[in-house]
Amino acid sequence: MTQRIALCHSTDLINSAQAVPFDVLYGTRVCAAFAIRYQDQVYAYLNRCAHVPMEMDYQSNRFFDSSGHWLMCATHGAMYQPQTGACRSGPCRGGLIKIETSEVDGVVHWHTADNLKPIE
Ligand code: FES
Repeated sequence: MTQRIALCHSTDLINSAQAVPFDVLYGTRVCAAFAIRYQDQVYAYLNRCAHVPMEMDYQSNRFFDSSGHWLMCATHGAMYQPQTGACRSGPCRGGLIKIETSEVDGVVHWHTADNLKPIE
């Protein structure tokens, strides 16, 4: 059953700006994740590039490229669509692993799934 886990205040996420980081249990491993806001909607993904499974931010919690329209991996420049995590260009195969989110009464939540659990 899906749980909603409070992550941050809505005001902590600004369009195309800094991400809010969090950790999840992905399968049996602790994995970094991040939430961003793009065109007023909140999205979250594992912080794990689809090219080589390493963290993508070029500065702490910064994922957007200079246009503010793409999430970019710092290592080899793979670009991902903020709304879906799909690869747009670069060496990525497939896309980012998406984490469902919701926003209620000024609070952003992430949603658990079969392979995404909170860390105990
Ligand atoms: S590790 Fe992200 S593009 Fe290569």
